[in-house]
Amino acid sequence: MCGIVGYVGKQKASAILLEGLKRLEYRGYDSAGLAVEHDHAFEVVKKVGRVNNLVAETAHHRLAGTTGISHTRWATHGGVTDANAHPHVSSDGKFALVHNGVIENYSGMKKFLLGQGYKFLSETDTEALVNLIAYHYKKEVDRPDSSRFLESVRKTLRHVEGTYGIVVLCTEHPNELVAARKGSPLILGIGDGEFLLASDVSAIISRTQNVVYLKDGEIVDVTPKNFTITTLDQADVAPVIDRVTWTLEDAEMGTFAHFMEKEIFEQPLALENGMRGRFSEDQSTANFGGLNLTPADFRLIDRIYFCACGTAWHACLVAEHLIERFARVPVEVDYASEFRYRNVPLRPNSLFFVISQSGETIDTLAALREAKRKGHVTAAICNVVGSTIARESDGGIYQHAGPEIGVASTKAFTSQILIASMFALYVARMRDMSFSDGVQYVQALKQAPDLVRKVLEQAPHIKEIAKRYAHHHDFLFLGRLSLFPIALEGALKLKEISYIHAEGYPAAEMKHGPIALISENCPTVFFAPKGEIFQKVVSSIQEIKARRGKTIVITTEGSEFPAGLTDEIITIPDCHEAVLPIVAAVPVQLLSYYIAVELGRDVDKPRNLAKSVTVE
Ligand code: M6R
Repeated sequence: MCGIVGYVGKQKASAILLEGLKRLEYRGYDSAGLAVEHDHAFEVVKKVGRVNNLVAETAHHRLAGTTGISHTRWATHGGVTDANAHPHVSSDGKFALVHNGVIENYSGMKKFLLGQGYKFLSETDTEALVNLIAYHYKKEVDRPDSSRFLESVRKTLRHVEGTYGIVVLCTEHPNELVAARKGSPLILGIGDGEFLLASDVSAIISRTQNVVYLKDGEIVDVTPKNFTITTLDQADVAPVIDRVTWTLEDAEMGTFAHFMEKEIFEQPLALENGMRGRFSEDQSTANFGGLNLTPADFRLIDRIYFCACGTAWHACLVAEHLIERFARVPVEVDYASEFRYRNVPLRPNSLFFVISQSGETIDTLAALREAKRKGHVTAAICNVVGSTIARESDGGIYQHAGPEIGVASTKAFTSQILIASMFALYVARMRDMSFSDGVQYVQALKQAPDLVRKVLEQAPHIKEIAKRYAHHHDFLFLGRLSLFPIALEGALKLKEISYIHAEGYPAAEMKHGPIALISENCPTVFFAPKGEIFQKVVSSIQEIKARRGKTIVITTEGSEFPAGLTDEIITIPDCHEAVLPIVAAVPVQLLSYYIAVELGRDVDKPRNLAKSVTVE
């Protein structure tokens, strides 16, 4: 939520800031703005709407400075207006600030500052923060000039309740940025004679691959020559410099029309990368270097909890199915946002797992912290390396799916399922799964990329179906067992990028209510793979047909249906249960994508959404 970019160096800051903002736009796209410092004054440009609006507006400004900050906003406090766009400037004109997060005690701060004569121009919580910095700066008049800016920010942050990633500029300290984080991501990029600050790596990857992932409670003071990191309590922090493994090309759209399309087609590669080097020498089980649990630890675990949000929660449901089916360990799945307030009685000997593409989702992070507080061993499946969740969990498995920019998660989802499936195998092989079943399972996993390639070949067929059905206002998605979560995911994908109402249900639950929705205007997407309950699913399809409902059936090769039962058929390769949910997810991703394109939706930046939900 909200993207931040800051720059200090020798180049003209505005061009670098705008390029970074474009790459961060998926984090929020209600408004965008920048502030550049030059000759002890700020030039501030802000505009409602997309970064391109801001780019157009900047053409009318000089923006000569080499130090600046910028922001793309996902509105929390205050409507979507130019005035509420960041950066915000203190009423004495000395400070400009960009902020990602929520200042919970801002109204008390604002009241105090109004009493002190500070003026407010926006409805945001952020403006209280920048004015409080100005207030402390004024009070710190006797402090040496070299530390006055930094210490004013530090003092201010000690009063803050809530979350923030901030970058601050000061007219009296040209060529200096002070930045800090608590609960919102912030990265320092170390370039050649320049430093960048950003909410995530994609904003700075064109200038450097060397980064420091700042931690909660840290403040960084940056000049073109140097940087220092300290804590809110003034303790020095020795920086750990990481090298980002992916490149600019990975974060670009290339020849695709949208990031979502690119990411759907990248799935075979993402799956290959998720498996690389992770099978045992005898090819009968998986290996995970970062879990930090021994086989002996695993033998003691008698329950696994999974928590996540959105699409990642659907991946948890698939994990539940696969782990219970193959490893025979009971699994419980919860929405992270519910778990954190429900005070769940976690059983001893439980492993607490979270799944998060971004590794920054605030509810998932809170759930993880709550489980840790209660003394449970925690683990995380994350895609973003160095993210807060990856760092705070006791152990973890990186997805290695590459950057996911499209707001609608696709390759991260199938890669999460892959990791969950490998984890199910790993636990199963420590328990009752035989060597030969393990070998078969590994072979099946290794086929997943090619199976997905086969489904992707059907894109033109699915596009035609999408054109025929795009005008409907309601859809049902039905599936059973491991494909019930894929039905939920199909419905979510359609909702979020097409704005079409869709519901996912276990197929047999249809009779208990949703069947009332069925008419010729509400098509049903049915998962009907071959298998022991195939006939039961066929009966459910018949019930739909009897009520004149249209059916789009996703089935495995060789399945046969009574004549007239299916209006549309999408055939996926017959495969092992370990990979079926991965293979079955692809057609619904494509269907949703092509429907959204047909409707002219903004696929990569659907309304009201942001890629990573870092506020409650
Ligand atoms: O980064 P996370 O995996 O923690 O994000 C969780 C959800 O916010 C995310 O999956 C969301 O539901 C996506 N927009 C779905 O496409």
